[in-house]
Amino acid sequence: MWEAAGNTVREALANSMAQETSRDLGPVVLLGPPGAGKGTQSKRIMEKYLIPQVSTGDILRQNVDQGTELGHIAKAVMARGELVSDDLVCEMVRLRLKEPDCKRGYVLDGFPRTAAQAGWLDALLDDRLFDNSRPTRAWPIVIRLDVDYNQLLLRITGRRSCPTCGRIYNVRFQPASVDCVCDIDGTRLITRNDDRLEVIQPRITAYQEQTRPVADYYQRTGRLISLNGDQPMDVVTEHIFRILDDHHA
Ligand code: AP5
Repeated sequence: MWEAAGNTVREALANSMAQETSRDLGPVVLLGPPGAGKGTQSKRIMEKYLIPQVSTGDILRQNVDQGTELGHIAKAVMARGELVSDDLVCEMVRLRLKEPDCKRGYVLDGFPRTAAQAGWLDALLDDRLFDNSRPTRAWPIVIRLDVDYNQLLLRITGRRSCPTCGRIYNVRFQPASVDCVCDIDGTRLITRNDDRLEVIQPRITAYQEQTRPVADYYQRTGRLISLNGDQPMDVVTEHIFRILDDHHA
């Protein structure tokens, strides 16, 4: 159903949006290794629950494309598959979460990624770093997508994305209707700079060494929900929607 860009999908989305607009979902954190499906699923959560996707990777890539000071610093780090410094990323997230569209909730895609970032986020939500205009202070719903290593490689090497609308495709699992052209706006699809084979392993290592402790932290505090992300996209989406709906039942 999600692969089709036709009216049926849009109508279904419009209906579900009408039902969901009144809900305050609060923060949702999607954890998982590179290629686990965080971006794909974040966009679906965004469409259904009408809360923004806050993707630190996307914001950093925008800064790189726009040649900002942050972009200059981040470019080389990202090209090596390493993590950008906590200070820079936390400040970037702080500014983004102050935007009015985050009031009812937001999906954090790619953040927190280190123990320091997780501690910073808790402090932020605990009202220690923000003034009264801060967004919701509910604790996040944390969902981790677990995916087998070989499947990750297939997903990352097959990923293509639209530089105009951000839609994510995959030559193996979610191809565009016309090869290399976005179904939505006709833009030529691109391959991400860090999806080169030589950068994939350092990214996975960074996840194992620096981001796994984040999941451990949420597990210890009873907030982690693990999902089998190896399943087809629509099945993963159904599980996530059920978790989010139950959370609000
Ligand atoms: P970021 O952009 O966050 O990349 P990532 O975490 O490596 O995750 P990906 O975007 O590669 O994968 P994804 O899980 O979103 O998968 P997707 O949905 O696209 O970060 C990039 C860099 O920025 C980092 O390396 C770091 O340098 C920096 N950075 C970012 N955040 C930072 C932070 N907080 N601190 C410090 N540095 C930070 O899916 C992948 C492919 O698989 C797609 O083609 C999709 O179509 C396909 N697919 C998805 N789900 C399925 C499925 N169920 N079945 C089959 N195919 C599927």
